[in-house]
Amino acid sequence: MLELKNINVTAQNGDNRIQILKNINLRLEEKKIYVMTGPNGGGKSSIAKTIMGIYRPDSGKIILDGEDITDKSITERARMGIGYAFQQPPRFKGLQVKELLSLAANGENITGEPCDLLYDVGLCTQDYLDREVNTSLSGGELKRIEIATLLARKLRVAVFDEPEAGIDLWSFQKLTETFERIHENSDTTLVIISHQERIVRLAHQVIVVSDGTISEITSQEKILADVKQFDSDCRCRRDCLKEELASAECDR
Ligand SMILES: Nc1ncnc2c1ncn2[C@@H]1O[C@H](COP(=O)(O)OP(=O)(O)OP(=O)(O)O)[C@@H](O)[C@H]1O
Ligand SMILES: [Mg+2]
Repeated sequence: MLELKNINVTAQNGDNRIQILKNINLRLEEKKIYVMTGPNGGGKSSIAKTIMGIYRPDSGKIILDGEDITDKSITERARMGIGYAFQQPPRFKGLQVKELLSLAANGENITGEPCDLLYDVGLCTQDYLDREVNTSLSGGELKRIEIATLLARKLRVAVFDEPEAGIDLWSFQKLTETFERIHENSDTTLVIISHQERIVRLAHQVIVVSDGTISEITSQEKILADVKQFDSDCRCRRDCLKEELASAECDR
């Protein structure tokens, strides 16, 4: 289990220090799928980066299976089985896709053949294994290759940051099936940051993050009902506005 206890994170913004995460408390159990969602700028990626050790909390603790990992580096956390697929993945000039996959798996422990890993993210392997992870890859291709690097590892906690971003419909379908399969075949805690209904439907729990805090931890049913209600409220307000405009036109 991964626990975040009273986590506060600040960052430098010009001359000021701003608080980007405020008193975050989370308990993420093994073999569960958590979908993190909420408005842009709410703090989802910052929580992911804090779990990975990219952002260091000013206060609070991070505990992995009873062990305090708050002061552990990114590399140590990676060795302990925490993985993070970035919202905007980095490129590695001079490195081939097959080398990146093998490095990700640490040369050992690889959970599948590189061909299978790429197939799982909807990439035709022959075309990609020898490609360089440089600017010649499209955004969607790069995103899928990075997801494959996480699939290559045996992870205790895997965090995917908007895996759907830039990914076509066919690959998206494959990706959701892959998440389901990881869940069935392993004890990995899956945290998927997403705005997609299809991904929300995979969740055991939905974590809503806004304004640097966890505003709600709820079920997929409740979130999907809220979205439906929001849409119907918007439609109602639009229709009222149209009626008002039409009657103002009549009065003139
Ligand atoms: N290193 C940083 N320095 C300054 N501000 C930061 C830093 N990292 C995050 N922020 C700010 O913290 C807030 C939360 O950012 P974060 O990237 O976590 O949001 P998000 O929920 O992932 O948004 P999105 O849905 O757009 O990806 C934003 O206002 C962002 O500008
Ligand atoms: Mg983000």
